[in-house]
Amino acid sequence: MKKSIRDFDLNNKRVIIRVDFNVPIKDNKILDDNRIVMSLKTIKYALDNGAKVILMSHLGRVKEESDKNSKSLKIVSERLSELLNQEVIFINNTRGSELEKSIKDLKNGEVLLIENTRFEDLCGKKESGNDLELGKYWASLGDIFINDAFGTSHRSHASNVGIASNLESGIGFLIEEELDKLSLVTNNPEKPFAVILGGAKVSDKIGVIKNLVDKCDYIIIGGGMAYTFLKAQGYNIGNSLLDSDSLDFCKDMLEKYGYKIVLPVDSIVSKEFDKDVMLKDNDNFDNDDIGLDIGDKSIELFKEKLSECKTVVWNGPLGYSEIEKYSKGTKEILKYLSEKEMTVVIGGGDTASAAINFGYKEVFTHISTGGGASLELLEGKVLPGIDIIDDK
Ligand code: 3PG
Repeated sequence: MKKSIRDFDLNNKRVIIRVDFNVPIKDNKILDDNRIVMSLKTIKYALDNGAKVILMSHLGRVKEESDKNSKSLKIVSERLSELLNQEVIFINNTRGSELEKSIKDLKNGEVLLIENTRFEDLCGKKESGNDLELGKYWASLGDIFINDAFGTSHRSHASNVGIASNLESGIGFLIEEELDKLSLVTNNPEKPFAVILGGAKVSDKIGVIKNLVDKCDYIIIGGGMAYTFLKAQGYNIGNSLLDSDSLDFCKDMLEKYGYKIVLPVDSIVSKEFDKDVMLKDNDNFDNDDIGLDIGDKSIELFKEKLSECKTVVWNGPLGYSEIEKYSKGTKEILKYLSEKEMTVVIGGGDTASAAINFGYKEVFTHISTGGGASLELLEGKVLPGIDIIDDK
């Protein structure tokens, strides 16, 4: 069992909290502040317990100098300040004398946010490559390290693994909650158990399918990835997404586990993405049709299978759900699950955004804040950012 923030006396200590503030930003506006909101519990706990709080996060991927303008955490510090209702000292650097002095001057109950840790990637990928000196330097700024960045815990970077290798460490409330809730589907899920998978590519989900196929009763597949399975069944999928490298995998899965794999029987198709749409059965596709959402019969079929289940985990939208006319499948299944008495765990990334944007933020057992991280957990992998944390 990992040490938690509760296991430390935080009073008068410099507590470095690694959060995942990698939020979507457009035109200098935060589009979804869920990850900031979900970090508040740990930050407030540390502040209430007399810590000097030092926050670190990455934002996007920083590849060239000009990325710095659009990838600064300044705007996040402003939102955080509103949410905490207190000043957040923002240091527009990742190291140096101003940062060190500000930390020295920090009083108990005050909070400081360091600039995007990936600015360190500009000279030799120091953050993403877990540069040993950088991890040591950041660790020297604090007394205790708390990792609460679940969404980044599948990465082995200087700001999580590097710091934790050099400092006493524990996990925060967000990671605790994620592990607790995700274990409902990874650790003896109550049966019948269904795995819903969507999104574009089969290859992104091969690990999950392999890890969960024996544990589940159904794998329900929608989204772009369904068309590679339909192609493997011999259907003409027109111009729909095809992940040719995964075709043999799909054939193999259908041969061995066809009895538990549930595929769409019809689709909303269009000739071009923004042209008129039609509802078509699997055996009726023209060569230029593109499948962009599951159809009404598929929605009913998926509901019928789900009606038997006690536990459901869902990763990947069932259609191109950012666009209204291709979002019906995802919306209908979200609505159906929201009305049922069952354990429903929604993976992070696009599925989490869909659930939150369509109004289901508070309804399900859990909506993960980690896209890649929750996927790797479902694949049965060890997450290095959590593995490195001290045991009790
Ligand atoms: C995420 O959004 O999945 C995490 O913040 C990790 O980001 P990354 O894929 O850029 O490492």
